[in-house]
Amino acid sequence: MKTYQITLLAGDGIGPEIMGVARAVLAQVSRNCQFHLNFTAAPFGGQAIDLTGEPLPEATLEQCRASDAILLGAVGGPVWDDHPRRPEQGLLGLRSGLGLYANLRPATVRPQLVAASSLKPEVVTGVDLLVVRELTGGLYFGQPQGIFPEKKGERRGVNTMTYSESEIERISRVAFKSAQSRRKLVTSVDKANVLAVSRLWREVVSRVALDFPDVTLNHLYVDNCAMQLIRWPKQFDVILTENLFWDILSDEAAMLTGSIGMLPSASLGEGPGVFEPVHGSAPDIAGQDRANPLAQVLSAAMLLGYGLQETTAAAQIEQAVARVLDQGYRTGDIMAEGMTQVGCQAMGEKLLLALAEGI
Ligand code: IPM
Ligand code: MG
Repeated sequence: MKTYQITLLAGDGIGPEIMGVARAVLAQVSRNCQFHLNFTAAPFGGQAIDLTGEPLPEATLEQCRASDAILLGAVGGPVWDDHPRRPEQGLLGLRSGLGLYANLRPATVRPQLVAASSLKPEVVTGVDLLVVRELTGGLYFGQPQGIFPEKKGERRGVNTMTYSESEIERISRVAFKSAQSRRKLVTSVDKANVLAVSRLWREVVSRVALDFPDVTLNHLYVDNCAMQLIRWPKQFDVILTENLFWDILSDEAAMLTGSIGMLPSASLGEGPGVFEPVHGSAPDIAGQDRANPLAQVLSAAMLLGYGLQETTAAAQIEQAVARVLDQGYRTGDIMAEGMTQVGCQAMGEKLLLALAEGI
């Protein structure tokens, strides 16, 4: 039987609870589809700081490198705010250490959750967009960065937004290729009216577009994109953008879908991919069985599809999620009148039942 090595980085806050659900779901579909998943957990984030002083211990990174795919929960929390090492540094270290330059963030409005969105039903019904976010460059990684002393005893904080042509080119190719199997429209988001780095971005994206004549390319300024996303999100198919812009706009796009608790992501590079929900560690509800595990479970589906090419198994998870939503089960974040509210664990049990019924 085919066996895959999967590293589980549960992390902090609600991470362990939602990971428990996703692990059980993965184990069930692997039995359904006759392959074996060998799970190994490793310390990461705040949990790893407490254990080793480092948010990304060398041994964890090595184990990730040696696996076929990595499922990540969430990191961070107020307890580490004043710590010299932050859990988020572990996440950035993992992204750069594994060369995960392409972050795919689908935002699909499911028919069952239209009412959960804060926008009007006619605006969000049928929204189906895929964001391709550059993940190892831009302001997050550009040098110089730091807090530097200046004359007169003042200090200056510096971050640098920088992209090379090759960095822009490789992420553009991911966006155009993704569009080819969708509605064949790429919207590249930049700030070319102000930023030199964006002018280069726009030039390179336009050049790459020539290799994909079947795909239409539009350019949009990031401030306008923020507005268009809530004005008429159905105009978008694939959105291509740099690291920080989509970090900010992700949380806005999440509200189209009703809850950030529904959004999965895949971070891909040359080696094993990392699959994680878009939401954070939600320390305020950790340990209370209130978290929505669906973004984590849908990230597990992306792990199967994008990471292992086990597309049948990935589709089974998607169907199970649709089925429990059809059955009316909702966690608190997506609760609506007439539905049945369940906790994190119970949602997991409903998913396992749906998976068992589906075969
Ligand atoms: C995300 C998160 C991370 C980011 C944080 C936790 C470092 O907000 O994946 O959107 O800023 O990329
Ligand atoms: Mg973010």
